[in-house]
Amino acid sequence: MSEQRKKVTAPAIRAMKGKARIGMLTAYDYPSAKAADAAGADIILVGDSLGMVVLGYPDTLSVTVDDMLHHTRAAVRGTKSALIVGDMPYLSYHVSVEESVRNAGRFIQAGAHAVKVEGAKPSRIRTIEAILDAEIPVMGHIGLTPQSVNALGGFRLQGKNADDARRLLDEAVALERAGCFSLVLECVPSELAAMITEQLIIPTIGIGAGPSCDGQVLVFHDVLGIYDGHTAKFVRQYAHLAQDMQAALETFLADVREGRFPDEEKESFHMASDEELKRLYASRDDGGVVVEMPKAQ
Ligand code: KIV
Repeated sequence: MSEQRKKVTAPAIRAMKGKARIGMLTAYDYPSAKAADAAGADIILVGDSLGMVVLGYPDTLSVTVDDMLHHTRAAVRGTKSALIVGDMPYLSYHVSVEESVRNAGRFIQAGAHAVKVEGAKPSRIRTIEAILDAEIPVMGHIGLTPQSVNALGGFRLQGKNADDARRLLDEAVALERAGCFSLVLECVPSELAAMITEQLIIPTIGIGAGPSCDGQVLVFHDVLGIYDGHTAKFVRQYAHLAQDMQAALETFLADVREGRFPDEEKESFHMASDEELKRLYASRDDGGVVVEMPKAQ
C-alpha cells in the first residue's frame, strides 16, 4: 500500500455500503497507527480495548477520557489517510447529555474524526443525537458491548434467541435513524448480522459477527499475536509477534551479558583520530600511561 491514498471521511465510509468491504483495525499509538494506515485500513479505531491490551486491565471499565485522548493524539500523529474513530470510554457518555457532548468534542479536538458509542437504549439514542447535533459523526456499537460486561454477566455471544436478536435488530434500526454513519456488531450470530446488514442502509462492521457484514474489525494486538490474554474464537492471528519479541529481547540480553553487544566496529563510535586519543591520554593525571590503547577511527 505505497500509493498516496485520499483521506477517508465518515460520509465516504457510509458510501462504501454495497460497493467495497470496509477494513478496520484498532491502533493505540504512533507506530501501530502508522502500520495500520500504511497497510491500507479504511478506519483506525482508537479502541478502549487499549485498557486490556496496552494498559493491562482485566476489562475496559477503568479507561478514562484522559487515557483515551493521550492515545488518540499519538494515533493521529501516525495516520495519513484512515478515518480515526475515538472510542468513548465507560462513564464518558453515561452521566448527562451535556457532559457526553463535551467529551465527544474533546476527541475531535485531539484529532479524531468521529466517535464510537456503545449501546442503543432510548437514553443512549438521545445522547447520540446530541453528539451528532454538535457535528460529530458517531459510529454505533451493539451486541457484546464490553462496557456492559457486568450487566451482561460476562463477555458472551449476544442475540442467540429470537427475542434478543429482535431487540438487537430494533436497536440497529434506531441507531441508523438517529444518524450513525456505521455500526459495529460484536459477537452476535452470523444469521442476525446478515439480517441487520441487509436491512440497514449504513454499513455494519463485524467482530465475531460472521462474514456478511459490510466490513470487519479486529484488535491490532490480536491480529499480530501480541496479546497474551484470552483470544476469542473470532480472532484470526496473522502473526505471532509475542514469541518473536520475546526471542529478540532474550537474545539481546544474552548478547549484553556475554559481551557480544555492541560490536566495536559496527555499533560503536570512535575518536576523530589516534592523535586525539593520544592527546586525551596525555591529559590524564597519571601522565598518560597507556597499558593498551584502543584504536581510533
Ligand atoms: O475497543 C475496541 O477495540 C472495540 C472494537 C473491538 C470494536 O470496541
